[in-house]
Amino acid sequence: MGFLLFLLFLLANSASGKRTTYIIHMDKSFMPKAFTSHEQWHSSILETVNLKDTASKSSTKPTRILYSYDNAFHGFSAVMSEDELKVLEKLPGFVSVYADKMVTLDTTHTFEFLGLNPESGLWPASHYGEDVIVGVIDTGVWPESRSYKDDGMTEIPSRWKGICEPGQDFNASMCNNKLIGVRYFNKGVKAANPNITISMNSGRDTQGHGTHTSSTVGGNYVEGASFFGYATGTARGVAPRARLAMYKVIFDEGRFASDVLAGMDQAVADGVDVISISMGFDNVPLYEDPIAIASFGAMEKGVLVSASAGNAGVTPGILHNGIPWLLTTAAGSIDRIHSGKLTLGNGQVITGWSMYPVSALVNDFPLIYNESISSCNSTSLSSFNFGIIICENGNFLDQINTIAESSAPAAIYISDDPRIFQREEFAYPGVVISPEDGAAVISYAKSSANPVASISFQQTFVRSTPAPVVATYTSRGPSPSYPGILKPDIMAPGSLVLASWIPNSYTVSIYPDIGLSSEFAMISGTSMACPHSSGIAALLKGAHPEWSPAAIRSAMITGAINIDNTNSPIKDSGLNYSIATPLAMGAGLVNPNFALNPGLIYDATPQDYINLLCAMKFTHKQILTITRSSTYTCQNASSDLNYPSFIAPYTNETTATLSQKFVRTVTNVGNGPANYSINMVVPSNTNISVYPSRLSFSSKYEKLSYTLTIEYSGNKTGEVVFGSLTWVDVIGLHAVTSSIVVAPMIRTW
Ligand SMILES: *[C@@H]1O[C@H](CO)[C@@H](O)[C@H](O)[C@H]1NC(C)=O
Ligand SMILES: *[C@@H]1O[C@H](CO)[C@@H](O)[C@H](O)[C@H]1NC(C)=O
Ligand SMILES: *[C@@H]1O[C@H](CO)[C@@H](O)[C@H](O)[C@H]1NC(C)=O
Ligand SMILES: *[C@@H]1O[C@H](CO)[C@@H](O)[C@H](O)[C@H]1NC(C)=O
Ligand SMILES: *[C@@H]1O[C@H](CO)[C@@H](O)[C@H](O)[C@H]1NC(C)=O
Ligand SMILES: *[C@@H]1O[C@H](CO)[C@@H](O)[C@H](O)[C@H]1NC(C)=O
Ligand SMILES: *[C@@H]1O[C@H](CO)[C@@H](O)[C@H](O)[C@H]1NC(C)=O
Ligand SMILES: *[C@@H]1O[C@H](CO)[C@@H](O)[C@H](O)[C@H]1NC(C)=O
Ligand SMILES: *[C@@H]1O[C@H](CO)[C@@H](O)[C@H](O)[C@H]1NC(C)=O
Ligand SMILES: *[C@@H]1O[C@H](CO)[C@@H](O)[C@H](O)[C@H]1NC(C)=O
Repeated sequence: MGFLLFLLFLLANSASGKRTTYIIHMDKSFMPKAFTSHEQWHSSILETVNLKDTASKSSTKPTRILYSYDNAFHGFSAVMSEDELKVLEKLPGFVSVYADKMVTLDTTHTFEFLGLNPESGLWPASHYGEDVIVGVIDTGVWPESRSYKDDGMTEIPSRWKGICEPGQDFNASMCNNKLIGVRYFNKGVKAANPNITISMNSGRDTQGHGTHTSSTVGGNYVEGASFFGYATGTARGVAPRARLAMYKVIFDEGRFASDVLAGMDQAVADGVDVISISMGFDNVPLYEDPIAIASFGAMEKGVLVSASAGNAGVTPGILHNGIPWLLTTAAGSIDRIHSGKLTLGNGQVITGWSMYPVSALVNDFPLIYNESISSCNSTSLSSFNFGIIICENGNFLDQINTIAESSAPAAIYISDDPRIFQREEFAYPGVVISPEDGAAVISYAKSSANPVASISFQQTFVRSTPAPVVATYTSRGPSPSYPGILKPDIMAPGSLVLASWIPNSYTVSIYPDIGLSSEFAMISGTSMACPHSSGIAALLKGAHPEWSPAAIRSAMITGAINIDNTNSPIKDSGLNYSIATPLAMGAGLVNPNFALNPGLIYDATPQDYINLLCAMKFTHKQILTITRSSTYTCQNASSDLNYPSFIAPYTNETTATLSQKFVRTVTNVGNGPANYSINMVVPSNTNISVYPSRLSFSSKYEKLSYTLTIEYSGNKTGEVVFGSLTWVDVIGLHAVTSSIVVAPMIRTW
């Protein structure tokens, strides 16, 4: 009674206030026994808060629940005023609250590049992911896409609890044994703008992104796939027999945390094994990051969450999803070039780069090289209307636009700007050639009395070198959420990935203003890299159903490759092709067949992550927001998570040698006894000691621990040094590699 009076007192003093969607975390152990469901409890809480509206005769709409969450975490989202919120914060069981926020969205050949093949390794060992269910949190699906046909698929596993939710242009019969579930979540969008009309109120994709990512994870075999004649072949997902369930949380009208949370929560409840989420929240601490919160609950239930690092580029410390209990993937290139074949009048043939999507005829056109206009930025280009113009010394993206506005029928661009090789659009006939080839073309154009050239389009070659290179756009670590754990974890193909698309929208355009549609699209981003990791995680889950999410991640990290297909260290195309650091690509390119049989794994339990949270400088309520259970204990707080990599951040104030000790425990997952010894690449200005230097396992699943100490005496003015520790079992042919990084401490959230 006293409590009610207190409420009324508050209410009498309240101005109605602006109403916002809030996400409220509750401690379920406070739920009174009288309630039979969490929904009931949440509604009663809101009724309590709503007393205010009656008492003050406020004209605002009654507060209502958007979602009640109970799987990945516990709580609800609701539209409320700040005053109502103040009341709610005083109620028993309240943990924390934050306002809803926007999320950032970040083929046929990538499986070969990754070494997946039907004869041996992870594909046959996992039956191509047949018993594994992957939940994709994204923009929906185009259910008619051939990637979701269920030819060759067996019955849906009986543990599946999901549904095929009907909606606009979508009915329940659109799911099958491949696409086993579709749901959509837009209460957050509607709450943010009550008058809005949702243009596609169903799980149907209007943007293409979700169709692309989900078909990359687990699309069925589609013969004759191509992108306007480029990359022709049989398309398939990384786990072509895995089941797909789509949770649409992104709408043309908005994209909100409350909807993302609802999708992840439902995916866990429905029984997915892996969640693939190609989006992230920037500039938020772990306890306000919906993906961190929902993925903690997922991890506790054995669900691996695989997320993209973001597309924010080379600035250090800006990646998102750098969350200790999920898998974070960066993006790189593959060994495929899309070419325009340039043939000069003297017979010389040069293979350049082109993605011009039409089979245009450019045969024996005059070749024009004029130094006073070859920067191709000049409006005087408009007087040229007859030949192939050579462009140099400029920004390709500006040049192709200028050329498109001119009357020149085609162009040759001399450039090695790495962004060209990630770009989906090539709107005007032309070809990009290297400066070396450019010199030959210019020399021919200058020396011939009547220079001519031809270009043919729509040709694709594989096994180009070097590959992979780190993409310019992929977001770099250290993780601002927690710089004490090395993120990203690994790199997967992200540039110009071919996968299904929505056929009723433009995939590319050509000049002038002609949109072209296609059943497939070739696009670039960490959004495209993430589903490769998700698919490989699904395959590993199929091959090793008993492995925890941490074990699956460990196998992927320790087996990754940090050399390219020329046997040199992988380079970073965003940093002038310098050697890529683990802050750009984690352990390197994911290597699925190696991950199948890693030898050793670094496992982690939910309690290990709680011990880590306890060691961060979070309040009780902030930790509770993530762990949900107030019975968590900080008895063994430790910032030393059993992670398969090492990062020692330094602050520039410290003049003394940086010294950091790590303890790690590895589990022998090889078949029987094994002896491991050390192979080390020591970072510059650093000493590394490891004890013991030999691990002798007498049986499978035996666990042994070691300590590793990093001592760094570099100049602490921004340098990043890195190396690696590899445990080698010569007899079992296992090599278990962990990156070792020393990097400056960055601003954190
Ligand atoms: C579902 O939609 C498909 C395609 O439009 C149609 O053929 C089918 O009859 C519909 N099924 C139901 C139950 O409405
Ligand atoms: C919603 O529509 C109503 C009635 O048309 C209007 O009074 C109100 O201002 C609109 N609200 C918003 C947020 O646009
Ligand atoms: C090169 O372009 C300039 C500027 O348009 C023009 O004045 C000049 O005549 C051109 N030179 C040749 C050799 O065509
Ligand atoms: C345009 O091209 C001319 C000739 O190459 C060059 O001098 C000038 O700097 C360029 N302008 C811009 C804005 O790039
Ligand atoms: C990139 O590297 C090349 C070759 O090492 C060098 O000539 C060039 O100056 C570098 N560019 C930048 C922007 O660092
Ligand atoms: C903390 O560590 C001790 C010693 O290893 C162990 O006995 C205890 O169970 C741990 N407590 C928790 C909550 O994990
Ligand atoms: C140390 O870092 C701080 C913050 O980044 C900076 O302001 C300061 O100048 C740095 N000091 C040295 C000696 O580099
Ligand atoms: C490991 O080393 C010990 C001691 O050298 C040896 O007795 C044992 O046979 C070795 N085990 C394997 C699997 O090689
Ligand atoms: C590494 O060890 C050597 C030999 O003990 C020592 O001289 C050196 O100062 C150490 N360097 C660092 C960075 O600790
Ligand atoms: C610090 O180390 C980096 C990388 O080795 C080097 O480029 C830089 O010049 C050094 N700075 C000082 C002040 O010694």
